[in-house]
Amino acid sequence: MDHLAWRACRLGVAGLMAALVWSGPSQGQALAPSPEAPTGRTAKTISAATRDMVAAANPLAAQAGRQILAAGGSAVDAAVAVQLVLNLVEPQSSGMGGGAFMVLWDGSVLTTLDGRETAPAAAKPDRFLGADGKPMKFYDAVVGGRSVGVPGTVRLLETAHKKWGKLPWAQVLAPATTLADTGFTISPRLNGLLTQEKYLAADPRARDYFYDADGKPKAVGTVLKNPAFATTLRTLADKGADAFYSGDIAADIVASVTGHPTNPGDMTLEDLKAYKVEERPALCGKYRTYKVCGMGPPSSGQIAVQQILATLQETDMAALKPGPDAVHWVSEAGRLAFADRGLYVADPAFVSVPVRGLTDPGYLKSRAALVDPNRSMGKAKPGDPPFQKAFLWGASEGIEFGTSHISIVDRNGNAVSMTTTIEDGFGARVMTKSGFLLNNELTDFSFSPVEDGKPVANRVEPGKRPRSSMAPTIVFDSNDKLYAVVGSPGGSLIINYVAKALVGLLDWKLDPQVAADLPNVGSRNGPTELEAGTEAADWKAGLEAKGHEVKLIDQNSGIHAIVVTPAGLVGGADSRREGVAIGN
Ligand code: DON
Repeated sequence: MDHLAWRACRLGVAGLMAALVWSGPSQGQALAPSPEAPTGRTAKTISAATRDMVAAANPLAAQAGRQILAAGGSAVDAAVAVQLVLNLVEPQSSGMGGGAFMVLWDGSVLTTLDGRETAPAAAKPDRFLGADGKPMKFYDAVVGGRSVGVPGTVRLLETAHKKWGKLPWAQVLAPATTLADTGFTISPRLNGLLTQEKYLAADPRARDYFYDADGKPKAVGTVLKNPAFATTLRTLADKGADAFYSGDIAADIVASVTGHPTNPGDMTLEDLKAYKVEERPALCGKYRTYKVCGMGPPSSGQIAVQQILATLQETDMAALKPGPDAVHWVSEAGRLAFADRGLYVADPAFVSVPVRGLTDPGYLKSRAALVDPNRSMGKAKPGDPPFQKAFLWGASEGIEFGTSHISIVDRNGNAVSMTTTIEDGFGARVMTKSGFLLNNELTDFSFSPVEDGKPVANRVEPGKRPRSSMAPTIVFDSNDKLYAVVGSPGGSLIINYVAKALVGLLDWKLDPQVAADLPNVGSRNGPTELEAGTEAADWKAGLEAKGHEVKLIDQNSGIHAIVVTPAGLVGGADSRREGVAIGN
């Protein structure tokens, strides 16, 4: 019970501010890697730097980013290095076999890059229906080639690097290549997740790599080398991303997907060759004096975060402490946002998503007016946003471990906010010969193509990108100066995690570490969900008195945040995971 979230609530916001007020970059640096259980907590202290900073889910990955920044690299250079090291050291969460969204600030222009996976050309709406016409069980769909989308991360990294990189491509690939050659030690979190894992050992390559001869996960501290991945990195260093989307690596991906012994997929070499990163305009909205920006569709993340914030704007959150009244507002706002998300958001290339209507200030005011300060509304209905709309329905997903968030600010004040995923923990449980795991992103599509006689917006279609909840976010102050870089993994809970962190940073002016560690709370338009094992449990009765149905659930966020202060950069890495925020 010693982590900062506990202190946050025991002290109250005022006491907390006194204890953890932003004091500028006094200690300069890094936190040592610290052991932790897969879902345990590790107390983390304030992290500060004067010039640049990386906050990422593993100390080795953050170190790689920091080195690149120290060598004069840009935020994008560092993001490439961090992502590729994460592929090795946090293989359950992200990597070359998956997809990502990158939000980029280059000092004058904000861009979003969509490196989301796509469905193969052969994919059909009934992909995840069983022989009985009913939706398959989740893991029957996940494990194997059927769930694998065409990976986008490598093309995304190269696209960003070509435009915003300063150091040579081979140099930013070097930290991961060295680590793949010389090996890294298995962390407690990786070992813990392997111990819980039920499906991965059935894949022969994954079994050889992650498990001992007796079938037990390799122990914490074991040095793991990945020569196949080192070779892949060398190939990409020489030939660029084209060598991933055609040639031997592409053939290996296709063979791994189509050759799965029990649940083969239908990806082809043409699907890989056709993959494109989409550069899209950033989605920005005003929250109090700040401008909050992120990724639009196919992610539902930023739309929902902005809808939640717009509802919270109707009350004085700064005057509320973390407690039942604040949770009432956050969860009612969540209900409204998740109701709209379910109906309207999917890949904009396939569905006319009414983004303008869903973020229209007048519409959002009318939605916020549905909140009764004293009584929960129960289940929210989707609204009727102005402008265009799509009469379609969508389903939701669960909680997993297959995602990671990277926040970076470089010496020139450029920033990257990137959420990256292979979807479920260890993805489709298919390891390529090339040394990386493949995603199961296609299970982010709705399994049912039709509901209540209406086509579902997020149904499977050839070449389509599954709806995401990822919400990489960049915040600007009232002078349009970079203020914060924030994001989290966590499936559909990402939306509530990011909204919570933003309330902590922007309303309660908390240090990013404290904001990340606040108990997670909210509603996905079902019960009001409070994080089990935190003092949020004490708020249950207060919420029930307002008519909430309350559930205590694990909420394993991984918020990585950096805030720009007059004195320098201050970072936070969620104490629920093993990440760090470090800088120069
Ligand atoms: O794109 C999405 O919303 C999901 N595939 C993200 C999955 C996730 O965050 C799992 N996390 N820990």
